[in-house]
Amino acid sequence: MSGVITFDTAYDIVIIGLGEIGGGLLRKIASVDGKDRLFGVDVNNKILAQYQAEGFNVGNTIPRANHYIIAVYSTSQVIEVAKKIPLDLVPLISIESTDEPGTMKELYDTLSRLGDFDLFCFPHRFNPKDQEHQYFNLDRVASAFIRRSAVRGIKFYQRYMDVSLIHVFPIEIVELCKPIENTYRFMEIAFAEELKMRCAEKKIDFETLRKAMNTKWNINIMEARDGIGGKCLPKDTNIISNYFGNFNLVNTAITSDGEYKGLRRKIPKINKLVIVIPMLLFAGLAFYVLSNRIFVTFYLNKYIKTFDQFSQEIRQIEEKPKAQRLELMYDSMYKYSKQMDKVKEDIRVKKNFSGLLFKD
Ligand SMILES: NC(=O)c1ccc[n+]([C@@H]2O[C@H](COP(=O)([O-])OP(=O)(O)OC[C@H]3O[C@@H](n4cnc5c(N)ncnc54)[C@H](O)[C@@H]3O)[C@@H](O)[C@H]2O)c1
Repeated sequence: MSGVITFDTAYDIVIIGLGEIGGGLLRKIASVDGKDRLFGVDVNNKILAQYQAEGFNVGNTIPRANHYIIAVYSTSQVIEVAKKIPLDLVPLISIESTDEPGTMKELYDTLSRLGDFDLFCFPHRFNPKDQEHQYFNLDRVASAFIRRSAVRGIKFYQRYMDVSLIHVFPIEIVELCKPIENTYRFMEIAFAEELKMRCAEKKIDFETLRKAMNTKWNINIMEARDGIGGKCLPKDTNIISNYFGNFNLVNTAITSDGEYKGLRRKIPKINKLVIVIPMLLFAGLAFYVLSNRIFVTFYLNKYIKTFDQFSQEIRQIEEKPKAQRLELMYDSMYKYSKQMDKVKEDIRVKKNFSGLLFKD
């Protein structure tokens, strides 16, 4: 174990790269250690302003510290920032970014020419929407070139996570783990995309097939959406494709995803509102027209029919002898008024049309 000298001016921990991984780590570590001896570095001023407003120590240059966590995005950025780390405190440098295989050796050799340090390889497996597997609550693989660095790295992370979650393997294995895990996921999605394209040619509904297959307990056909995107899957799969060169399945999966994305681009994306708004307008118009018809059919017609009968009767009465007319007229009016009462009552109890459309 190296003797760690702590100067008052030095920070305990510096996190370099305050994106999804580094920013989250900054908050998690602050929740255990507090903010005073913690520092965040980024080149993005907006991000720096955001953390500064929350009371974090942040800046765009790397200060002296005992521990560094690198969480920048790409391999070239990892190499660039690692070379800028002051080594006079013999720091622990932990790489949480996903790198191209061989990067750790390159870093170790480069930094060894500049001073003493402990290099710890601790690639992150953070799962964005899965609270159960995020910063320090998930199984992770770790490695180092020398025992001293491995022990120091594990001891450092023990401050934040259960040591049983840290699994030590040789460095070339640990470097490959994360990009291959993502490549495997890439291939699962590419399989779904390829299957969807071939199903379309045979006029088979992919979603129904997928649903049917996934009823089997150990089958999980992924969704095929708009092509494989996001920050990590394409990047890590390219890392593996380039590293192995002839990993045919992976190369085919990349081609397949490209074909799928090409097809998706050809299908014009229809905004749902373009369909929903005319449908609503049409439904409104149909309702308006039909409501009139319903009103006439179920309500007005009853009155008209009763009145027609009454007028017919009156005409017939007019042809009768004068002496009988008054009595007949009286009877007819009495009958008419009873019929109208019945129609009104039927409408009131909605006997003919029970809809809510017309209130009494
Ligand atoms: N996000 C995930 O779900 C996830 C999961 C596992 C692993 N990873 C890996 O972790 C690493 C970081 O991922 P992320 O999602 O946080 O990336 P990100 O792009 O969100 O963040 C990277 C940050 O690094 C900063 N940066 C770039 N160059 C810099 C420099 N020279 N100095 C200081 N800061 C610099 C950027 O401004 C950015 O804020 C990647 O290697 C990624 O593959 C990410």
